[in-house]
Amino acid sequence: MLDLTGKNALVTGIANNRSIAWGIAQQLHQAGAKLGVTYLPDERGRHEQKVKNLVEPLAPSLFLPCNVQDEAQVQSTFAAIANQWDKLDILIHCLAFANKDDLSGQFSHTSRQGFTLALDVSAYSLIQLSAAAQPLMRAGGSIVTLTYLGGVRVIPNYNVMGIAKAALEMNVRYLAADLGPQKIRVNGISAGPIRTLASSAVGGILDMIHHVETVAPLRRTVTQTEVGNTAAFLCSDLASGITGQVLYVDSGYSIMGM
Ligand SMILES: NC(=O)c1ccc[n+]([C@@H]2O[C@H](COP(=O)([O-])OP(=O)(O)OC[C@H]3O[C@@H](n4cnc5c(N)ncnc54)[C@H](O)[C@@H]3O)[C@@H](O)[C@H]2O)c1
Repeated sequence: MLDLTGKNALVTGIANNRSIAWGIAQQLHQAGAKLGVTYLPDERGRHEQKVKNLVEPLAPSLFLPCNVQDEAQVQSTFAAIANQWDKLDILIHCLAFANKDDLSGQFSHTSRQGFTLALDVSAYSLIQLSAAAQPLMRAGGSIVTLTYLGGVRVIPNYNVMGIAKAALEMNVRYLAADLGPQKIRVNGISAGPIRTLASSAVGGILDMIHHVETVAPLRRTVTQTEVGNTAAFLCSDLASGITGQVLYVDSGYSIMGM
């Protein structure tokens, strides 16, 4: 049985009720995990209040600001975890960012600044958060990140985010090899397209979803709950032999040649 009782899970990347991280947090909670939630702070604190109201029913024991571009915030997030919990078992990395201008048009026009930003927030942050989590994962652990097919194949408009996802997927393998001896497993979920705040920035996302609904074996795209269920499985002892993998939760779309 999928049981996460006694496990402490940090979930990053909840922006609203469409976020994949929200689907994951709900499934981890349902399986019995204790939750800590981070949010991306904004100047007026509106984001904080919105996310706080959303996650309230899951009663997270930690609710912390964490912009991965701010090293001090990352350090204080993990210091707070070390203070409050005896150990960390689960880290959900569910965040990405690129300039909207870099998510449509000609890929060859990607700027150095846009490239650096996308890779820093969307790929480097997995290394950064894993390094901070490592000393707290005293009983081993499970780290799960979210990726997309655009990291292995060319998807129109995905552009610089495809490069970031390729780096992210390779991070999964190097981190799995690095942290495996401490019983820390690292895996990725490659989700089919879902309408969220982040995906709305990608040019033509609705066409992408429609295309999946037309050709994927299951003739539909996936839900946040389905991704959440897979994340809960990967974080559970049922997946104890799985590390360094990218699991596709995409209604089978990625197997199709035409
Ligand atoms: N929606 C899709 O179709 C889809 C498909 C496959 C993979 N993914 C991936 O799933 C993950 C979650 O995206 P989503 O679609 O749920 O969208 P979302 O907009 O709900 O989530 C993105 C999150 O990233 C956070 N974020 C951005 N910059 C940050 C920073 N500097 N520090 C900390 N957090 C930051 C945002 O606050 C937000 O919570 C991303 O990695 C995305 O690439 C999405």
